[in-house]
Amino acid sequence: MKNGQFICDTNGNILHAHGGYIIRHDGFYYWYGEDRTDGNYVSCYRSTDLKTWEFRNHILTVNSVCKPYRVRTGLKLRAPHGGKVNIERPKVLFCELTGKFVMWAHYENGKDYNDAACCVATCDTPDGNFVYHGHFNPYGHMSRDCTLFLDDDGTAYFVSAARDNADLHVYRLADDFMNVDKLVNVLWQGEYREAPAIFKKEGKYYMLSSFCTGWAPNQGCWSVSDSMDGKWALLRNFGDKKTYFSQPAFVLPVERDGVTEYLYFGDRWGDPFTQPFDYAKSTYIVLTIQFDETGAPYIIWSDDAPI
Ligand code: GAL
Repeated sequence: MKNGQFICDTNGNILHAHGGYIIRHDGFYYWYGEDRTDGNYVSCYRSTDLKTWEFRNHILTVNSVCKPYRVRTGLKLRAPHGGKVNIERPKVLFCELTGKFVMWAHYENGKDYNDAACCVATCDTPDGNFVYHGHFNPYGHMSRDCTLFLDDDGTAYFVSAARDNADLHVYRLADDFMNVDKLVNVLWQGEYREAPAIFKKEGKYYMLSSFCTGWAPNQGCWSVSDSMDGKWALLRNFGDKKTYFSQPAFVLPVERDGVTEYLYFGDRWGDPFTQPFDYAKSTYIVLTIQFDETGAPYIIWSDDAPI
C-alpha cells in the first residue's frame, strides 16, 4: 500500500473502510469502516497478511434489519426525506461473554449534525449482516467522533466527543458491550479533541486525537495515562502540523517476528490538494509508530505503508 493512494480489494474495487477499525479474529484481520457508496453505511474486508484485502460484506446498509433492545433508541436507518442518515467512525469488538460482534458508531440524521448520538449494531459473525439496534445519547450527552477500546481484562470502553466536541468522554461499557455502564472520565475540557484512537503498551494507555476542524487535517496530539479513568498527561504533538494530512482512525498492534508493532491508521479525507472537498477521494495513511527514549510515540512520513 502506498500512503495517500487508493487501495483495492481482491476484486479490484476501491476499499471503503473510512474512519474504521481492525480487529483480529480466528486468524483473520477484519477491517470495518464507513462506506458511503449506494445504500451502504459500513463495509467489512478481511486479510491474513494486512496486504491483500478480500471484500466480505456491506454489513450495515439502509436495508439492515432494525431491532429494538433494552435501551430506548431511535431505530431509523433512513432519513425522513428518504435519504441516508450518517453512520460515522464504526468500530467493532467481539464480546466473549455473549459471543456477539458489537458495533458502536456515530449517528447523525443525514440533514445536520444535531443528533450527536452513538448507535449500536450486532452480529453473530464478524462479517454477516449486522442488526441495527438504534441510536441514543449516552446519559443524555452529545456523542460524536468516537472509538472503542478493549482492555486486557475484557473491559470495553467507548470514548466520544461530547458538549459540541468541547470535551472527550470515556465510558466503561456494560459486560455485554450493549450499553454504557459508567462515565469514568471527562478529558480535555474545552480543548475540542476529535478522532480518538487508543492503544496499550507495557501497561500504559496511549490516546491519539485530532483538533476539531471538520474534514480538514490539523496537528495531531498524543497523551498517556496509567488507567482509562485516571489522570491523562498534557497533550503533546504527534506527526507534523497536519498529521501528514490525516486524522486518526485507529491504532493496530501487530506481532511481527516476535515484536509488537503499533500501526497508526489515519484517514486522509478527500484529496487534500484539490478543492472542493470530495469525500469519495478519501484514502488512508498507515505509519509505524516509533517511541523515543522517553517513551513518547512519534511517526515519520513514508510513501510506503507498512502493510
Ligand atoms: C470531522 C470528523 C469526521 C466527520 C466530519 C464531518 O471532524 O472527524 O468523522 O464527522 O467532521 O464534518
